[in-house]
Amino acid sequence: MSEKLLLAARAAQLRAYCPYSGYQVGAAVEDAEGRIYAGSNIENQSYGATVCAERVALWNMVAAGSQQWVRLAVVTKDGGTPCGLCLQVMSEFAANDEVEVVIATPEEQKRILTLHDLMPIRFESDEVQRSSQVN
Ligand code: THU
Repeated sequence: MSEKLLLAARAAQLRAYCPYSGYQVGAAVEDAEGRIYAGSNIENQSYGATVCAERVALWNMVAAGSQQWVRLAVVTKDGGTPCGLCLQVMSEFAANDEVEVVIATPEEQKRILTLHDLMPIRFESDEVQRSSQVN
């Protein structure tokens, strides 16, 4: 477990924009080359436009040109786990099913689970195919 990853997630938690829930979430993902991308939850007055910290971190990774993560850390005050929507997005960009998800609070690392532990079956269908390889 990379200490740098946890530090990045903890720093991102402090940057959460959550005036509606007051629940700060920080996440950080590490790609296969060891690069780290952070994200915070960003809420909106139109509640449905809120984005979770995990997805912000992943989209930062993709926007920076990397499409596979190997480890993700998420930090909340009570050791919350990623939501179902984030798990679906996480699975799209995971290097494999055994990638690690570190659940932590600002004070301690609570547990380490694999993506498979959290999401044994994800939505995936042959009817929804990549029509062209753009990237
Ligand atoms: N949230 C996350 O950032 N990640 C999750 O996996 C679950 C929930 C955020 C969304 C919202 O800003 C706040 O936590 C309360 O739901």
